[in-house]
Amino acid sequence: MAQFWKPGTERPPLLDDEEGGILLYSASRSSSSGYNHVSIEKQRQRLPVFRYRTSILYLVETHAATIIVGETGSGKTTQIPQYLKEAGWADGGRVIACTQPRRLAVQAVASRVAEEMGVKLGEEVGYTIRFEDLTNRDLTRIKFLTDGVLLREMMEDPLLTKYSVIMVDEAHERSISTDILLGLLKKIQRRRPELRLIISSATIEAKSMAAFFHNSKKRRGLEGEQRGPKTEPAILSVEGRGFNVQVFYAEEPVPDYIQAIVSTVMSIHDQEPMGDILVFLTGQDDIDTAVQLLTEEAQNNGKPSSGLVVLPLYSGLSRADQDLVFSPTPRGKRKVVISTNIAETSLTLEGVVYVVDSGFSKQRFYNPISDIENLVVAPISKASARQRAGRAGRVRPGKLYTEEHFVKEMSAEGIPEMQRSNLVSCVIQLKALGIDNILGFDWPASPSPEAMIRALEVLYSLGVLDDDAKLTSPTGFQIAEIPLDPMISKMILASNQLGCSEEIITIAAVLSIQSIWISARGQQKQLDEAKLRFAAAEGDHVTFLNVYKGFLQSGKSSKWCNKNFVNYHAMRKVIEIREQLRRIALRIGMVLKSCESDMQAVRKAVTAGFFANACRLEAFSHSGMYKTLRSSQEVYIHPSSVLFRVNPKWVIYHSIVSTDRQYMRNVISLDPSWLLEAAPHFYQHQQPNSIPH
Ligand code: CDP
Ligand code: MG
Repeated sequence: MAQFWKPGTERPPLLDDEEGGILLYSASRSSSSGYNHVSIEKQRQRLPVFRYRTSILYLVETHAATIIVGETGSGKTTQIPQYLKEAGWADGGRVIACTQPRRLAVQAVASRVAEEMGVKLGEEVGYTIRFEDLTNRDLTRIKFLTDGVLLREMMEDPLLTKYSVIMVDEAHERSISTDILLGLLKKIQRRRPELRLIISSATIEAKSMAAFFHNSKKRRGLEGEQRGPKTEPAILSVEGRGFNVQVFYAEEPVPDYIQAIVSTVMSIHDQEPMGDILVFLTGQDDIDTAVQLLTEEAQNNGKPSSGLVVLPLYSGLSRADQDLVFSPTPRGKRKVVISTNIAETSLTLEGVVYVVDSGFSKQRFYNPISDIENLVVAPISKASARQRAGRAGRVRPGKLYTEEHFVKEMSAEGIPEMQRSNLVSCVIQLKALGIDNILGFDWPASPSPEAMIRALEVLYSLGVLDDDAKLTSPTGFQIAEIPLDPMISKMILASNQLGCSEEIITIAAVLSIQSIWISARGQQKQLDEAKLRFAAAEGDHVTFLNVYKGFLQSGKSSKWCNKNFVNYHAMRKVIEIREQLRRIALRIGMVLKSCESDMQAVRKAVTAGFFANACRLEAFSHSGMYKTLRSSQEVYIHPSSVLFRVNPKWVIYHSIVSTDRQYMRNVISLDPSWLLEAAPHFYQHQQPNSIPH
């Protein structure tokens, strides 16, 4: 690897070299981290976006929608909401909203802005993500939130009346929620011309976004007004700092990209001048593995490597771990942050000089024909690759794929999530907001009719929609009220009649976090043994219940967790989410009840929600091959499941991941007669011979 790295030029001084966290003067509003407030002010003024402050405020004043494009790190997310506040957009109890597609970005950005303003997070500046609300009804003036949470707020307040300006940030990501949000905000603006929108992003097709916001209907609606804002969106491009980034490609495709990343990082560390390294990998598993390998390598490698501080970055990290990533690198050390594509555009790490890119990310793909939604490790687009390289911001990134691959095989742009996802959640949200004609909805990117039909079919079978495709009462409305995937929500609702709501709510909480196990490369055997202590013959869902019970019995002890390879932080999160779900369950009229040891009730409730994911073991198969009932797709039980190699005849899976095969993650066994009970319409007309009547 070493030959790809040439000695580079001197790195420009980092801000913290001059203004590091040493408090020289006790400024009147110094913040908790010890930063001098005056120096933060200076830092703010150095950001590229600062020169545009007046223009931005003018455009927002005079235009209904303003599209702002500027490279990552130029200050869009942290500064624009502050400018708006300074200009009075939050006066009179109004609130400025800024949405992000990612939860972790919401938290990180909100805490940065609170720090810059010298206020306590959760007061004047707050954030809301699913299951976590750190805002104050009376005090919060700038609110960061995920676009999904803003959509949920529309259920209570369809015109989002408390917001004066809504900044839809990272619009280029084109997450489903962003797309729905853009469509709905356009509608809202027709009713609330005083609402201002900012659509911001690093790389966005500004023209097509402008065209989307400037259609004839809207002009008719607003042009009669003398003093209303201009309806044609304004476009502003923030010129960046323009550092030269040198790019080095691998000379040939690498067989094991984690190993290749480890050796690349080590050779940068051994041969290049100081400066932090940002590495792009795909997901938590990969990242934990790489962190472990690198830490070991650094220890074995003796003196020059001892200065490495290796840190992971993915959503679901504890606040303390997040803070480590964002805090300044100690003098004489080199930080290596190994991240998912979260650091691609939404977060900026000061001090990164080198970027090492695997060229892959985890992406969701949905095939409406097989009705399987897959999480796949897939090559990123050229746009993403450029973006990642740009995160060096200063000099010399490295990449781990060949140039030929880049030129020939990567697609230019990513595909909007809307066009590669299962649309069940999307449809139910729109229905709950009273949008009945979903196919006729004004989408920034139209979803495929097949995917839409599949979603309608599933929702009908779940009992959420009636024959006229309207939300059923009360089931449909109750399910829409629970902020989870409709299949999980249905499982929760079904547990009410089955008398196992306490258990099912625990399961739902576990399923909504990434994993409750400590990932353990090199200690796989110990992890498997630990799992065996909790393993239930029924499957993973029941195993979760055993872990949860053990955790409670230990008095929620972190020692107990470590001993059992259980992730303590994840379990705390489970308890938190569980509490919130219990509150929601009570609000929609459920009775909280435990079924004690009646696991049949639990399995039936899972079936009631996830009947569409039922699979049968192929009779002739010794390799553990299953076929989905729905579309006869070949699938296998994931090695991480307690049912791996047990292979019960009938199973239901929670999700699918693809590597060499399609693997079912989180699997539970069932009695096939429950399927007809749970969803007669769904299975009656399909595969009539595969289910015993
Ligand atoms: O949104 P955009 O990518 O344009 O930039 P930003 O997120 O507003 O970040 C502006 C600057 O704030 C970055 O260049 C970082 O120097 C700094 N920043 C930071 O130091 N720590 C954070 N947690 C967030 C931002
Ligand atoms: Mg940003």
